[in-house]
Amino acid sequence: MKVWEAVKAEAERRSLEIEMQQTGCVGMCHHEPLLDLIDDGGEVYTYGHVTPGRVKRIFDDHVTGGQPVAEYLVGTSSQPNDFLSGQVRIALRNCGVIDPEEIRDYCARGGYAALRQAVTAMRPEEVISEVKASGLRGRGGAGFPSWVKWQAARQAEGDVKYIICNADEGDPGAFMDRSILEGDPHSVLEGMALAGYAVGAGEGVIYVRAEYPLAVRRLEVAIKQARKEGVLGQNIFGSGFSFDIRIKHGAGAFVCGEETALIASLEGERGMPRLKPPYPAEQGYWGKPTVINNVETYANVPWIISQGGKAFAAVGTDKSKGTKVFALAGKVKRGGLVEIPMGVSLRKVIFEIGGGIKSDRKFKAVQLGGPSGGCISEQLLDTPVDYESIVATGAIMGSGGMVVMDDTTCMVDIARFFLDFTRKESCGKCVQCRIGTKRMLEILERIVNGEGREGDIELLEEIANQVKQGSLCGLGQSAPNPVLTTIRYFREEYEVHIRDHRCPARQCRALISYRIDPERCGGCGSCASKCPVGCISGKKKEPHVIDQSQCIKCGTCLETCPSRYKAIIVE
Ligand code: FES
Repeated sequence: MKVWEAVKAEAERRSLEIEMQQTGCVGMCHHEPLLDLIDDGGEVYTYGHVTPGRVKRIFDDHVTGGQPVAEYLVGTSSQPNDFLSGQVRIALRNCGVIDPEEIRDYCARGGYAALRQAVTAMRPEEVISEVKASGLRGRGGAGFPSWVKWQAARQAEGDVKYIICNADEGDPGAFMDRSILEGDPHSVLEGMALAGYAVGAGEGVIYVRAEYPLAVRRLEVAIKQARKEGVLGQNIFGSGFSFDIRIKHGAGAFVCGEETALIASLEGERGMPRLKPPYPAEQGYWGKPTVINNVETYANVPWIISQGGKAFAAVGTDKSKGTKVFALAGKVKRGGLVEIPMGVSLRKVIFEIGGGIKSDRKFKAVQLGGPSGGCISEQLLDTPVDYESIVATGAIMGSGGMVVMDDTTCMVDIARFFLDFTRKESCGKCVQCRIGTKRMLEILERIVNGEGREGDIELLEEIANQVKQGSLCGLGQSAPNPVLTTIRYFREEYEVHIRDHRCPARQCRALISYRIDPERCGGCGSCASKCPVGCISGKKKEPHVIDQSQCIKCGTCLETCPSRYKAIIVE
């Protein structure tokens, strides 16, 4: 907002008439705040890390002087940067380009043309065939062919049918759905309306987590505008087809990402999964046929209808068509949202688009699929990103979280961290999930505390398989993935913890100690002054020592030791 105000003030001060517009996130989180300057010829100059101070310089040099400020520039439309040039944008086609609160912007980019075409010139079956031809599979995780759900709901008996949008994005670190809702809400509304027309539903519900206030507000604005323009509501485009959408706020339970749990929550029950079949397409919301897809899936649909299923199928691999949006995060240089054609290798995403590992450290693993996904090691970096190849590694595509880890990450501790999350989020309905994850967590805690026993790895594997097989829903079935994949690819790290009581990444507190190298210590005293328990002593300009019996291993000394000394040794 500060940058927005600065631009406005600067333009006023110079009595310049410029058109200003806000947009959603383009995905380059590592460069934010961003400012796009569009010149009279239509060339877009993107400036990064914009501050009010930089705004003045951009006005001086570029707006008035006609000379772009090269130091702040992160790309132009004719020369996109490496982060954007490796991407193919279908679901994110409008994000960062249009004003999400302005339906006319969406329409100017071809919005609602697909809906008009479908309801005025296509039969519902034709819409389904187009989705079938596209090969679109659910982007929420499981990768189920979308047209199969649609067809089943179309063929199910009954006049009342529902379309639900699962916007309950629960993976820590994932924000694909949120960005689409915030940056291009109309594409989701249009996708839902197309689904409604295809299956014969008159009502849609968006289940969105209440922790996404901006997404909720933009959806509300979009729904209001769509109604006003007559693209939602009665008799859309004079075709006789009527469809409306409402929003339901979810409380943010991870298990509610599971479709049957989400439906239970929508009906006012506790969000717990139920046994399938019957599938929601036959008996879903209030027992009626229901199509439930996630945000990204719906955002693809208008593009598919207007460009044709074949055009979508031409992107991606044989079995995984189109593109997928990932939230690239963790120890990568350029984090943010990336949309890539299916089949691109993990290496390309991390090292070309993401720019490699922060501080040029060593790559260790990448976690795919959120807290119940899996960690993939370096030798698998050439794995293509598609549903089948990812599952073969033991991870899952999930909704698209991609967390990069470097050599300072302890894989046992990471497995503990994710399992702790899924254990807390388990709804507790099935015994395996409720108790199995708890027992696994106890074993992992023991190992990171240096109390691991021989046989722990095998025990973990045994319980993990029981939890996978015995759980009712996706949460329990996938919760052991981080444990199983870290054992599969980093078994030695577990063994070293158990056998030698050592943490090779030097992260597990109980297994490390801090020491001051007397040769390097300059006696500056900064560690001693910051140590929260006062266990460091020494005279000025003389080597200091840590009292091991008092040290709580907080790592403050390591952080405070000046880089000219680097005297703290972690063992
Ligand atoms: S998620 Fe509810 S018990 Fe498995």
